[in-house]
Formats: sequence, C-alpha cells, structure tokens
Amino acid sequence: MSKSGDSVKQIESLRDQIRHHNYRYHVLDDPEVPDAEYDRLVRQLQALERDHPELITSDSPTQRVGDTPIKAFGTVEHRLPMLSLDNAFSADELHEFHRRVIDRLELENDNDDLDYAAEPKLDGAAVSLLYVDGRLERGATRGDGTRGEDITHNVRTIDAIPLRLIGKDYPSTMEVRGEVFMPKAGFEAYNQRARDAGEKTFVNPRNAAAGSLRQLDPRLTAERPLDMYVYSVGVVEDGELPGRHSEVLDQLQEWGLKTCPERKVVKGVAGCLAFYDDLGGRRDSLSYEIDGVVYKVNSLADQRELGFVSRAPRWAIAHKFPAQEELTVVQGVEFQVGRTGAVTPVARLEPVFVGGVTVSNATLHNIDELRRKDVRVGDTVIVRRAGDVIPEVVSVIDGRRPKGTKPVRLPRKCPVCGSKVSREEGEAVARCTGGLYCPAQRAEELKHFVSRRAMDIDGLGAKLIEQLVAIDRINTPADLYQLRQEELAAMERMGEKSAQNLVDSIEKSKGTTLSRFLYSLGIREVGEATAASLAAHFGSLATILSASEENLLAVTDVGPVVASRIRAFFDEDHNLDVIKRLQDSGVHWAETEPRAAPDDGPLLGKTFVLTGSLSGMTRDEAKERIQSLGGKVTGSVSKKTDFVIFGEKAGSKLTKAQQLEVATLDEAQFMKLLAGI
Ligand code: IVH
Repeated sequence: MSKSGDSVKQIESLRDQIRHHNYRYHVLDDPEVPDAEYDRLVRQLQALERDHPELITSDSPTQRVGDTPIKAFGTVEHRLPMLSLDNAFSADELHEFHRRVIDRLELENDNDDLDYAAEPKLDGAAVSLLYVDGRLERGATRGDGTRGEDITHNVRTIDAIPLRLIGKDYPSTMEVRGEVFMPKAGFEAYNQRARDAGEKTFVNPRNAAAGSLRQLDPRLTAERPLDMYVYSVGVVEDGELPGRHSEVLDQLQEWGLKTCPERKVVKGVAGCLAFYDDLGGRRDSLSYEIDGVVYKVNSLADQRELGFVSRAPRWAIAHKFPAQEELTVVQGVEFQVGRTGAVTPVARLEPVFVGGVTVSNATLHNIDELRRKDVRVGDTVIVRRAGDVIPEVVSVIDGRRPKGTKPVRLPRKCPVCGSKVSREEGEAVARCTGGLYCPAQRAEELKHFVSRRAMDIDGLGAKLIEQLVAIDRINTPADLYQLRQEELAAMERMGEKSAQNLVDSIEKSKGTTLSRFLYSLGIREVGEATAASLAAHFGSLATILSASEENLLAVTDVGPVVASRIRAFFDEDHNLDVIKRLQDSGVHWAETEPRAAPDDGPLLGKTFVLTGSLSGMTRDEAKERIQSLGGKVTGSVSKKTDFVIFGEKAGSKLTKAQQLEVATLDEAQFMKLLAGI
C-alpha cells in the first residue's frame, strides 16, 4: 500500500478511537482510558493532519471536542462557544507558544515581560453560570462547546455558587465560567463509603464531579461535596468589566464568586515556569486535584487580537503535569497478609511511570473490589497514583483482555502460613485465621510494636524484622528484649555499631507510658486515642486487665465493639503471657490514680475532633488543653460532635463536618475560643 494510503488508514483509525473515547468521557461519564492515553492519540492525529493537511475533514475530532449532550437534560446553546485549551507538555512547547503570541502581537524581541495570568488547571467539570440582575438564572455543562446540558437544579445545590451576587454594579447579564470539582478529601471519603457498602467507586475526582453534576435528582448532587472556582466570563451585557483577565477575576471575587487563591500574574516564560515548578511542588498538598497550570495572556485587548482557532484560544495554553493515571499490564495478583490477618489483593504490574514515580504494585483493596473490577492476570489496566495515596488499580480496559484469562479467586488458605482464610458475614475483609502462628501477622505486629508512636524502637526496620521472624528468632514482642548484640551483628546488612545502637534503643524503650504500651499491643480497634483514654481512665494495667466490658464502656471513645475486642484480647492466655514477659524484661511505666474525665470545666459536655496540623501547637497539646477544660476529644466526626478544629492539610474529617453541618473552627478561631474562656 502507498505511504499516503497508510496515513489515511491510520488517521481513520485514530479518529474512530478518539470519537469512541469522547463518547465514553462526555456522554457516559465513564472514560475507558486515562487522559495520558487520550492525549497521545490526539497528538498522533494532530501530527498526521499537520503532515497531510489535505486529509483534514470538518468532522475530525481535532476540529471539535466533546460530544452531544444526553437527552435527559434540557439543552443550552452557548452564545459564545466554551472553548478548550491546547496543551504544552514541556518547557520547549511553552516557548513555542510564547513565540507565536509575540509574533502575532508583533511585539519586539522576546518580550519576556509580557504579563500572563497563571492559574492551576483544575481537574473537574467546566460549568457556565448565567446571572441576570445578580440572580443565578441558569447553570450549564460545556457539552460540545456550543451546546451543553441544563443543570440549573444541580448547580443550585453547590454552596460555593452564590444564588445572588453581592455588591453592586454587576452587569445586568453576566455569564461566568469555571470548574466544579470534588476536593480530594471528599472524594476519598466518598469512595471509602462506597467500597464499604460494596458500591461502585468513582475513578477519579474529575469523574466524580462530572458524574455528580449530571444526576437527575438534585438531592443526590446536594449530598456530594462539590466546590467551584470561576476562571472566566462569557456573555456580558449592560456593564463594564476591567481590561485585564486577573482584574476581572478580582472583580468576580468581590461579587461573591469564588476564584482560585493560587492564581498569580507572572512575567514571560520564566515567570510561567517558576509558577509551574512552585505549584508542581505543592500539588500533593493542595486540597483539590489539578492536572497542570494554565497561562493566559493577561491583557483582554491582546486576547481579542489573538483570537482563536477551531477549538482553542491562541492566547492561552495548558501546561500539563506528569500524568497521575497510566496504562499498564497486570503480571500477577497476590494476596498480602496484614497485622490483623486481613488478606489484601495486590496487583503486580509491569512497571509504569505514573504520578512522578515508577509503580510496580497497586492495591485492589479487598476481595469484593477485586471481583467488581474483575482484574485478571494479563489485563491492561489503568493505575492511578495521586499524591501520597497508595497506587490503585482503577479499572480494566475491557477491549484489551487476552484470551483464556480466569477470574482471580480468594485463596482458601493463607499464602504465608497455610491457615484457613475466613470471612465474617457482612465484612468486606477476609482474614487469615492463623493469628500469631502466621509469620506475616507476626512480622506486621512487630512492625507496629516498634513503630515511633508505639514503643519507638529505632533501628529495627521491616527487613530485619522479617529476617528475625523467618528464622524463628522472634515470635512475640517479648522476644525482642532477649536480642543480644553479637547475634544482631551477625545478621545480613548489620554491623557491630548498628547492632549496638539497636540494643541501646531496645533498652531505652523499656521506660514507656501505659498509653503507649497499650497502643503497641496492637489490640484491634484500639488506636492511640483509645489507648490514651484507657490509660487515663484506669490508671494502671491491672485495673484494665480486670475491667468488665461494662467497665470498659464507661471510657470515652469505647463502644460495644471496642469493649469486646479489648476483653477478648486480655482473655487470651497467650497475650497475658507476652505482657508478663515484657514486664519481666523490664518494660515499665508510671501508674497513676484512676482518673475519670474531669467532671467540671467550661467545655464540659462538648465534643471536639482535631484534624490537619496546627501551627501554634501540636495536636496532642490542643487535645490536652481541651481535656483540661472538661471537653472530650474523639477521633471521628459524627452528628454528636460539637466542634471540628482544623489546621493545614485537613482531610476527610473536615469535609464530613461540613456535610453534617457540625461547627468548624480554624486555628485562629480555636485560639479565640480558648482565650475567651
Ligand atoms: S480557561 C478559553 N482556566 O480546562 C479557555 N480552563 O481544556 C477555556 N480548566 O474546559 C478555559 N482549569 O474545564 C481555564 N484555570 C482554568 C482552568 C480551565 C481547568 C479546564 C476547563 C476547560 C478545560 C480546557
């Protein structure tokens, strides 16, 4: 076949694939491939069309984005098209963009002080809001750019979107555009709930936002933690707006519309790149997902002069960050055994670069999730790694499953110790029943025991623990205190010095607190907060050992499930034996008088939850302050919570508080509250 015949075929095939993905993405809200793969297809097609301009047709996906709206919603015609953005994937491509801008504007030389409005590229769904006489009249999706769906009833449920503008002098008709998104914490919390309930999870926050906006029942949208930042205006009548993009956004902010606080005016390519690097470095700590940054020529007069080509303006470009979702192939599915025996399926992957690192394992969460996603060996899957979240398999690409694959089954026996694997009625998690007979559980328990917030034994890493367990040198935490310097020095990758250091830190760990000791025992459901409550309430180990479930229920934070777990733990002779041996080896703590929670104080009867990091004090200090004033501090937010105190990087607890309409205080407000007492 001739060379150009090849190109025709290739172009046709790429167009078919892109059309298919557009449909999955825009119409079904169910994308099949990650953006990175979609972008590659579009770029291949663009390159071929550049080489063969004679083959460009008006229905090529490069000439049009998105897809037709679904019928269930009314249709909205966008009087001004909602454009999309061209992408730059490198500094070179950004330089080329800047050069084109300079040339078109006939500016001199490099003009490296041209102002750009730099903004995060928010990863959500584009929405148009129409305000008439300051009232929210209509909300619409972008759709295909010319026609979108009427989602007025849904946007009205989003708190960040004012139903009335504030201030005055706004144009009598003003269409604003922006991105509706689901903050990361809300997304994680939503998916966790869905997983626990055995329901379908959202593949990523963007999809979650788009899906939530297209609910037919606005009550469902209202339950989703959605937020919005506006980033431009569309139709404006009877009113004046400033002459620069950044000033327009400042003005919108004054009228009560939210704009992204990370936006900034920068100079030339150097300013753009510095913004990109800075934001890229902070990407993981932002509370919402972004997939790059957008640079817009700041002068609106310049924007008008530059105009746009088919689908995108010439005055703006998106500079993408490395993808957080990629395609790879599953080489195997294994089952890992955790401290409490939980058997977790893990996919072994062909290594792939995603979210800035090379990933070769990804969690499949639990057996139900594995079944629902039906991940099989040989499958091509989407893996996602966002921030410091563990990489996960998002979904399988159905069309790429090789022949002869079989569903993965939950093993009947523990892959490590061979004990039975069982699953309690109604539990998502399957567990190895081997208990401490199982080396995997033993090793995990030991890792917990030595961890910083438990017994804090420095220098005893995971590898060494696994070795010591494998040669049966350590069976329980009590055996740690029998380790001698000589035998440690003889272990792999250990020297005289590090062996001595380890012996020293084991010795040092003997002086601890009751609360740490209880936490380090690894009793199911007993985290740090519960351990601290138990220690404060009973004052001594002996009293806890003899406490009935009823006595235990009197402790802050202890409910029936926790009480029964604690009782069951101390009813095991094996556990009592380990505790005795630990004490015999010299592990000790100061015992105190049993102390009930203070029965007086200005915060009596008030329940607090702390989330995120405070700048003026540690969370523990804040907790002590609250407790000393008679208040209670618990670990999770419920309707009974009175206040949620949030600091930097607050997570799902803050979102939950907002959903339950629990009062939230930032650090300054919290300090004020304390000061006012
Ligand atoms: S400006 C004419 N600014 O990216 C410019 N878009 O690929 C059109 N997006 O549909 C939009 N953050 O959904 C603009 N700060 C931002 C953005 C942004 C995210 C999305 C938007 C748009 C898509 C374009």
